[in-house]
Amino acid sequence: MGTESLLIDGGHRLSGRVPIEGAKNAALPACVASLLTDERIILHRIPQLRDVSTILFTLTDLGKRVVRRGTSVIMSGDRPLSQEANAYSVRQMRASFLVLGPLIARLGRAVVPLPGGCAIGERAVDLHLSALQKMGASVEVRGQVARVEAERLRGARIDLAFPSVGATEQILMAATLANGETQIANAAVEPEVMDLVALLRKMGAEIEHAGRRFRVTGTDRLRGAEHSVISDRMEAGTYLLAGAMAGGEVAIDGVNPEHLAPFLGVLEEAGINVRAEAGSLFVSGDGECRGVRVETGPHPAFPTDLHPPLAALLTLADGTSSVKETVFERRHTYADGLRTMGAQIAIHGSDVTISGVRGLRGHSLVAPDIRSGAALVLAAVAARGESEVAGLETIDRGYAALEAKLRGLGARIERRTR
Ligand code: UD1
Repeated sequence: MGTESLLIDGGHRLSGRVPIEGAKNAALPACVASLLTDERIILHRIPQLRDVSTILFTLTDLGKRVVRRGTSVIMSGDRPLSQEANAYSVRQMRASFLVLGPLIARLGRAVVPLPGGCAIGERAVDLHLSALQKMGASVEVRGQVARVEAERLRGARIDLAFPSVGATEQILMAATLANGETQIANAAVEPEVMDLVALLRKMGAEIEHAGRRFRVTGTDRLRGAEHSVISDRMEAGTYLLAGAMAGGEVAIDGVNPEHLAPFLGVLEEAGINVRAEAGSLFVSGDGECRGVRVETGPHPAFPTDLHPPLAALLTLADGTSSVKETVFERRHTYADGLRTMGAQIAIHGSDVTISGVRGLRGHSLVAPDIRSGAALVLAAVAARGESEVAGLETIDRGYAALEAKLRGLGARIERRTR
């Protein structure tokens, strides 16, 4: 357990503007893509998050030269890459497993620890490994470590059993340097996946896209590129919910409303007033909303990462809501914490039923994972009385300057380090 916590005196209205960072889930694969070339990759709008530090550490450890200047990162290769990824960082963060495909494509061999389960579910990597096998790689998993070899990966037809974001990114990167054409059917098409495709194309990769299908024509080498990652729709959604729960008027700056369309549709059904204007979203309200029925799913369905923060809002809705989680087994790790604050939440398998209550009470809480941690913070900001949210290090993995941004909106919130 970490030593940092947030002290929150809830129940105050929020108003003002929040700047949104570059997307964590676009930044991580973009950094990994730098392994595909020795030439310079310059990335902008890279958020200053613990997960970004973890991936940059992994890359440095593999031999990349990494220079970080504010929210820009410059990556180049002036020494040979290592075949073996750092076990500590892969076990800490699942996205580090993405180094596997690029390493095999560049070096013909890679040794990468399995990421293992985590708080929100098992999160296997079977789809990653079986796709690489189809591309001609031999895969051996022993003692929770994957050893993968292929003199040269070859193009293949891969039909994903589930449109996994990570598996799609893994295959896309591996396929750019494979021999021949790779087709991916039932692929993930999250905005963050499409942002990786945009970067890979700038690096010279040939990638065609239609619906849930990608066709990648492999090439011998990729070149350097400069790219600015898309904005973080999960962070934007979280602050929209904060504004909706605490009343007042909040502007979320630097967002792409198209990326948030499935989420904004649900807010509209809940009766929350959101207006889009020149790269900003404005939410205004009096803290009132109606219960809704939501089902999470791969994009363009409702994003699973916004399920926990949405659940925090729904605890205060007028009427009953239901959230069906179809992506992760244990997304509802927020439930115990919210219940101690007075929320009424029932869980049956993947179905969460939330009966709205008139108000929440401050309480002592622990962040179970990034998004449920954010849900507890939103609830504490809206609740009457004081809360302490411990395990802040977990929330820091995905939210930059969380307390500074909320304080800027008028929330009474402080970071405490023991
Ligand atoms: C990414 C996001 C995460 C988001 C998720 C779903 C990053 C860094 N993280 O995670 O924030 O919540 O997409 O939008 O981008 N699965 C398998 N076998 C596999 C791969 C996945 O069974 O080989 C299962 C997982 O256990 C999970 C589901 O598929 O239940 C979704 O996983 P996936 O889409 O791969 O998510 P991530 O890429 O890990």
